[in-house]
Amino acid sequence: GFTVELARTQRAVYVPQGKTIAEALRDEGVDIMVSCEQGVCGACETRVLEGDIEHRDLILTEQEKAAGKLMMICVSSCSGDRLVLDL
Ligand code: FES
Repeated sequence: GFTVELARTQRAVYVPQGKTIAEALRDEGVDIMVSCEQGVCGACETRVLEGDIEHRDLILTEQEKAAGKLMMICVSSCSGDRLVLDL
């Protein structure tokens, strides 16, 4: 698992293995926008301020993925132990 820090709301949420970021945030009552939950619609696109993203969506271009500033929190994950999101 890893920790997601929410920069705007000053919260930290642990995402255990087997759960998506979107699921973990929703379980903690964080208000997020999610639709397809399969990485294909773009509704859950979230700005990333820090951390290494493991991209699993079908939306972002390779360039956007490499830039590491955006992610789809319904499917994508973290390859380190911490992500800071603009939420
Ligand atoms: Fe559709 Fe995440 S909810 S891409």
